[in-house]
Amino acid sequence: MNLVLMGPPGAGKGTQAERIVEEHQIPHISTGDMFRQAVEDGTPLGLEAKSFMNQGKLVPDRVTIGIVRDRLGKDDCASGFLLDGFPRTLPQAEALDTLLSEMGKKIDRVVYIDVDEETLISRLTGRRICSQCGTTYHLIFNPPKQEGTCDRCGAHLYQRDDDTEETVANRLKVNAEQTRHLLDYYGNVGNLVQVDGDQPIEQVTTAILQEIRGSAE
Ligand code: AP5
Ligand code: MG
Repeated sequence: MNLVLMGPPGAGKGTQAERIVEEHQIPHISTGDMFRQAVEDGTPLGLEAKSFMNQGKLVPDRVTIGIVRDRLGKDDCASGFLLDGFPRTLPQAEALDTLLSEMGKKIDRVVYIDVDEETLISRLTGRRICSQCGTTYHLIFNPPKQEGTCDRCGAHLYQRDDDTEETVANRLKVNAEQTRHLLDYYGNVGNLVQVDGDQPIEQVTTAILQEIRGSAE
């Protein structure tokens, strides 16, 4: 099962990805997570990505396509993968198609999680993430049992650098410019499904899993 999860910042890609990969036993490949890890490790990739991310801009295609190519070549992707937040531009979508066809693979489903802008802003500004295992919470919509502490591993929760109001506004703007090109692209390919992301987390998961099941039949 080769899947792509798309949606604006705060749509719930990461939240849903955690649940889908558990169900399907495939690796979760988030370009945002990979860049944040590189920033934390202080690698050259991290240094390059950081300035774009903190301004809410996209990291250049050349860099982003390169890390996805390397990642998809790893053994654990042999029987499937879930891409979260990639592709995000038309050149990335085209590069992914080329890469997959070289590998004799194709995308089974592109799932677009649709959420209105007002909801996205409150989701992003209230998001908290576990510093150890990466589990995502929300102060109101999905709070941890104990404030500031991860339910799963007990580590402390932090707020992402790009979840400030100003950067969020820029991320939403950049997303709006790119999205319609990608929706057109995958709409033409015929493997795109849209899911209403403005429902409780479990209901969104059920809707996505149903759509994915549809592609396997
Ligand atoms: P990335 O990390 O991918 O960020 P994003 O696309 O902005 O999306 P988010 O991770 O913010 O949101 P999400 O959809 O995962 O939502 P989540 O599940 O956390 O990218 C970051 C940056 O890296 C980019 O800005 C760019 O600079 C760079 N980058 C990454 N990929 C790139 C690419 N391909 N090309 C170029 N640059 C790239 O949920 C959000 C909150 O809402 C959480 O608190 C959660 O608990 C809550 N929530 C989730 N679902 C629900 C629900 N159904 N109801 C109520 N609350 C919910
Ligand atoms: Mg995410």
